[in-house]
Amino acid sequence: MKKISEEKGRKKVYEGKAKILYLYGGDESKLVTYFKDDATAFNGQKKGTIEQKGEFNNAISSSLFKLLKSKGIKSHFIEKLSEREMLVHHLKMFPVEFVVRNYTAGSLAKKMGVEEGVKLLSPVVELYYKSDELGDPMINETYLKAFDLGEPKDVEEAKKIAVNINEILKDFFDKNGLLLVDYKLEFGILNGNVLLADEITPDTMRLWDKVTLEKVDKDRFRRDLGGVEEAYKRVYDITSKI
Ligand SMILES: Nc1ncnc2c1ncn2[C@@H]1O[C@H](COP(=O)(O)OP(=O)(O)O)[C@@H](O)[C@H]1O
Ligand SMILES: [Mg+2]
Repeated sequence: MKKISEEKGRKKVYEGKAKILYLYGGDESKLVTYFKDDATAFNGQKKGTIEQKGEFNNAISSSLFKLLKSKGIKSHFIEKLSEREMLVHHLKMFPVEFVVRNYTAGSLAKKMGVEEGVKLLSPVVELYYKSDELGDPMINETYLKAFDLGEPKDVEEAKKIAVNINEILKDFFDKNGLLLVDYKLEFGILNGNVLLADEITPDTMRLWDKVTLEKVDKDRFRRDLGGVEEAYKRVYDITSKI
């Protein structure tokens, strides 16, 4: 089936694991992000599809970018163009993933030898070098200048924004019955300003039911827990009220 962006004659500039980027019109200042149903895990070793994920993630991201904007957080988001397409500003991305954690889960639980779900005394912030070939290795601030990954002061600002976002998202999900366990953000630069980019979805966040601690995110796919589509739908329903 032809993708809506292709029907509209958009020029593809990049295809990633979850999204495709297209040019919007002739000018390169804006991009159309097309959300796919494709799902990968464990650095691409596990592949599958999650029905309607593209539609859910586009809507969830759009709503969360709007919520963040209302709280003073600037992002690449311009508007939701269609069910699976989002119009964004074309940024110069930092090849860095910013991970913020409130509870132990996944690699942090393993690394520190504690069970999952332990509340951290204060948030943990981690930087990873975005590289599929290398499996996104963890880095720290001294790598930035050493490997020309971005201006340290800009990355420091992105890190600060990533932590400010924590309070907003934690509070929002808490009011809607979910614990924000951890999340991954990406940032880029536009006209010298650091802006939040990419997506904020159950692919990039861990969310647990506050009462049952049931997982409501991509871990259901990673760990073959079933009820994957239902989990995305639940987050979609919550964020569609924004
Ligand atoms: N506003 C933006 N401008 C330029 N690139 C972006 C923007 N937002 C996200 N990206 C990049 O677009 C890609 C999105 O597609 P995705 O499927 O998530 O790719 P990947 O498999 O590389 O994570 C990512 O590489 C991300 O860094
Ligand atoms: Mg990605």
